Amino acid sequence: MNERARRTVPADPAAAPADPEAIAASGRLVARILEHIEAGGGWIPFDQFMRHALYEPGLGYYAAKPAKIGAHGDFVTAPELSPLFARALAAQVAQALLELPPRVLEFGAGSGALASELIAQLGRLGVELESYAIVEVSADLKTQQQARLRDRRIRWLDAPPERFEGVIIANEVLDVMPVKLFVGRGGSMLERGVQARGGGLSMAERPAGDELLEAVKAIEADAGPLPDGYVSEVGLMARAWTATLGHWLHRGLALLIDYGFPRSEYYHPQRAMGTLMCHFRHRAHADPLWLPGLNDITAHVDFTAMAQAARSAGLQVLGYTSQARFLLDCGLLELLGEAPGGPNTAAALRLLSEAEMGELLKVLAVGRGVRGPLRGFASGDRSHRLL
Ligand SMILES: C[S@@+](CC[C@H](N)C(=O)[O-])C[C@H]1O[C@@H](n2cnc3c(N)ncnc32)[C@H](O)[C@@H]1O
Repeated sequence: MNERARRTVPADPAAAPADPEAIAASGRLVARILEHIEAGGGWIPFDQFMRHALYEPGLGYYAAKPAKIGAHGDFVTAPELSPLFARALAAQVAQALLELPPRVLEFGAGSGALASELIAQLGRLGVELESYAIVEVSADLKTQQQARLRDRRIRWLDAPPERFEGVIIANEVLDVMPVKLFVGRGGSMLERGVQARGGGLSMAERPAGDELLEAVKAIEADAGPLPDGYVSEVGLMARAWTATLGHWLHRGLALLIDYGFPRSEYYHPQRAMGTLMCHFRHRAHADPLWLPGLNDITAHVDFTAMAQAARSAGLQVLGYTSQARFLLDCGLLELLGEAPGGPNTAAALRLLSEAEMGELLKVLAVGRGVRGPLRGFASGDRSHRLL
């Protein structure tokens, strides 16, 4: 498929070598992963590898690597690019809070940029927040958030609350949840994983287990048969995460913003290599085994699966659209008019551009007890594409 890589331009990762200390840290992570492989009988599924590479305590990318997000990191997200993103999002949050307790819960708050600007803009809109809480799995990013947001009244939670009423936000969180990799070959479905080879790591395949077989069968039932040799991924963890919202989101709205597509586009026969992508110093590459712990690893989101998971957990799908349509409906151009200027205009163009964030990122709204219609989906709702 002719499509720009997520966030960054494809490039040879070797063109930007890491420093010796970082390479040594990655070596320690590889040694730890080799222990997991040995404990797993010589092979671990890719989702387990991805969990270690990103979240292994003290060594994983989100657990340990300093300077991940922003100009000096590996990738840029919408809130890092411009405060206009948070200001536009605030319009949707403010509308929802008209009928909900004024509480916001953010997952994976990164550097804290979104929280900082969202709280400020809600204040300008006259919304008095009762609470703003963050659930963050990265101890390192939590420290960064606490430093940046120390003058705000924010609570950090180790896990979602047992019951919540208000607005939930997760920007680019689902795409860093571990995925399973599959490949269909000669009538058999195989699961890709990682094995030890020559003191390092290499990819290896095993017959897929029942859970993965079921998931691929459901994909083929919706998207049509996948061609021989087709490689892709299934985000079972992201689905489970979305389904759990149904247990504890008692009344409110969840805005899930991420790179992704409806199922029929995701598993299009032409997207034969899946969407797995790694990011290192603003370069994108496709080798997750290259310097684990120093690279972000992501996969796009199957938004049909997220909508199904939400519905089966008793939530309603309240809207689905591109980031560009969502931001425009939330008044991005008016906000740009209030703060014109070169950097803001350039950032707004990137947020809206069809070839970049505007179309590749989507916004899915799910919830319970919210009347709607929601402002952010007024002119571009594509929920019907998720059926
Ligand atoms: C790609 S970054 C996005 C950061 C931020 N939302 C932004 O847009 O700049 C992913 C974030 O999600 C966090 N994360 C990953 N899995 C999570 C989970 N299950 N619960 C909460 N945070 C999570 C990471 O630690 C990181 O802060």
